[in-house]
Amino acid sequence: MRLSLSFVALALSAFVSADPLQTVLGLQDNTDSAGLSSQNQLLERIEEFSELTSDPVELYKLVDPAGAADLDEPRLLHIWGIQDSEENAEWVTEGDKLRLHQQGIKFTDTTETQDLGKKNALKALAVTEFPKISYGTQVRDVISHLSAHNMQDNLEKLTSFFNRFYKSENGGASSHWVYSQVLDIIAKAPPSTPLSLRKFTHTFPQSSVIARFEPKYPSPNKTAAVIIGAHQDSANYRFPLLPAPGADDDGSGTVTILEAFRALVDRGFTPEYPVEFHWYAAEEGGLLGSRAVAAEYESLGRDVRAMIQFDMTAYTKQSHTPTVAFITTDVNTPLTEYTISLAEEYADYPVQRAKLFPGAGSDHMSWHRAGYPGAFATEGDPFTEFDPYIHTSNDTMYLADGEFSFEHALEFSKVAVAFAVELGGWV
Ligand SMILES: *[C@@H]1O[C@H](CO)[C@@H](O)[C@H](O)[C@H]1NC(C)=O
Ligand SMILES: *[C@@H]1O[C@H](CO)[C@@H](O)[C@H](O)[C@H]1NC(C)=O
Ligand SMILES: [Zn+2]
Repeated sequence: MRLSLSFVALALSAFVSADPLQTVLGLQDNTDSAGLSSQNQLLERIEEFSELTSDPVELYKLVDPAGAADLDEPRLLHIWGIQDSEENAEWVTEGDKLRLHQQGIKFTDTTETQDLGKKNALKALAVTEFPKISYGTQVRDVISHLSAHNMQDNLEKLTSFFNRFYKSENGGASSHWVYSQVLDIIAKAPPSTPLSLRKFTHTFPQSSVIARFEPKYPSPNKTAAVIIGAHQDSANYRFPLLPAPGADDDGSGTVTILEAFRALVDRGFTPEYPVEFHWYAAEEGGLLGSRAVAAEYESLGRDVRAMIQFDMTAYTKQSHTPTVAFITTDVNTPLTEYTISLAEEYADYPVQRAKLFPGAGSDHMSWHRAGYPGAFATEGDPFTEFDPYIHTSNDTMYLADGEFSFEHALEFSKVAVAFAVELGGWV
């Protein structure tokens, strides 16, 4: 049905505020009732205007003209699976990113980080020699303190945000929640554990969050960081202002590394190298958060010993054996093989290697691009075991018949702990 624009104006003023549905929907329990009511009004507006246009840019301009103000701005994108490399990135618009999402195509937004990797390419980064596995006692002790129950509690809260869209107030609030969870953990740390926490702010409301175990005895030879990452934003690819619980993508990775971090702090982890946990903003906006962080490290001349990304750790396809999968494309191969050996040593599920299809990826690619060793762990083979619910309002933790498994996610927490301790050392 096509409606005239004058009807649109009329419809806008006709929306009533009192909505009995709001209690039924049970959205975002940290929003007051005024927030819920405006959220429901927004949903009604989206539904109404969706009848006028299927183009997400036109729709955004109708639904939220102020929020849509940047959609005509030029952005330089490397569109995955379309252009073979970042060198062939194309100028499009901010709004085109929404159109690409609607088609299920991912991209890197290189606009502010066009030189990522150029400085590092000119210098010899320390070649990491991956150490022999030698902290079995400590790793197993930390692993025995991991709790799937904690992960479930945290994910319940994280998915209660209406969405975690990086450009929205929701996305800002959800990143602040991640920050405050990490702060709570740090507040309970044993006094001998030197930790720091940073809110890495961006040009949009959502921040990246960086927690860091400082080396116990700083050495000029051991300044390279070990980094464990996940992305905390979520996206509804149909339209960004719709609900996006993002339970698997990447709420699962977010709580997977949060639980690894909590257990390491709890057990008094004191590494030789700095060990950092990163919760990135705006992965769905084209790796914006991780590229900004990686670009800063590169410009400051910081070295990175190893980086691993956990993106989607809980979905378990029915009638498939759950595994710990490592992506072998667009990653550092020696680091990936080393991490596989850690998973074989410390995880209890079978380990598999898998390729990624063009058009998929995650934040480790930002580090890889910057010239640092990056690896990528995920819940299964993307070609045969892909989670069909991601990027929709159906990406929740309440799936039928064990399709969403915290036991599965816990296997990745074990890998994160092993990665932190075996590569970071423990003194
Ligand atoms: C750092 O490495 C150099 C070269 O391998 C070595 O000579 C030096 O003793 C090391 N310094 C420290 C503080 O470990
Ligand atoms: C969510 O799941 C329901 C029930 O299976 C389905 O009808 C609906 O189309 C799904 N919605 C989306 C956005 O995928
Ligand atoms: Zn995603």
